[in-house]
Amino acid sequence: MRNILVVANWKMNPRTLKEAKEIARASDDKRVVVCPPFIFLEEVKRTVKKGKVGAQNCFWERGGKKSSFTGEVSPGMLKDIGCKYVIVGHSERRTVLKEEAKVIKMKVKAVLAEKMTPILCVGEKKEKESAPEEIKKQLKEALQGVPLKNVIIAYEPVFAIGTGKACPVDLAEKRKLFIKSFLAKIRKKGEDIPVLYGGSVDGKNASSYVKAGFDGLLVGGASTKPGEFERILKKV
Ligand code: 13P
Repeated sequence: MRNILVVANWKMNPRTLKEAKEIARASDDKRVVVCPPFIFLEEVKRTVKKGKVGAQNCFWERGGKKSSFTGEVSPGMLKDIGCKYVIVGHSERRTVLKEEAKVIKMKVKAVLAEKMTPILCVGEKKEKESAPEEIKKQLKEALQGVPLKNVIIAYEPVFAIGTGKACPVDLAEKRKLFIKSFLAKIRKKGEDIPVLYGGSVDGKNASSYVKAGFDGLLVGGASTKPGEFERILKKV
């Protein structure tokens, strides 16, 4: 049986620590990686017993004696409090925070250097014919020349994020096959690298992406709604 991974990207939610603990308690499952905002990480790590904890971002320097990077969090700090995964290159960071390809690559390398798993997000902005080229460019820019022992790809078409309109399953499946074949070209057994689907996943559509061969899901909005998240977990 395949190991299915369900990554809960809480984004900038919830507002209070009390709510964070409640959501974490309801999300605790061995297939789940909970990625709360930095400020809740330690408490969520204490709450989550069966699942794992990840971060939504990190800085690209590993840190050391002279780490003068105001406001940033290093991969080493995340590792120290028990993070196993870090989301890198999410489309919201690419667009809102203007994160460039070279920064994304540095982050992937920094996460790997701390022996954590980067979850690299890729996906086209619009549904169009040239989408595979856009995805290939993102993969190349972030991964070429990087020793890929341990990486997860999340296919998140931007048009499906937070819109309530998930990507049609047949289209997502096509993109997943494209990503796997690209990975097979740049790394031995690259087709074994897990590829997750993300974008308006809910209790109704979750199982169809797993049936289409995705190795798991990257869930945004629904991951902070305990009832809906439990429905997703039941279906996969
Ligand atoms: P939604 O599930 O809210 O569409 O968000 C997807 C996402 O961006 C997960 O990283």
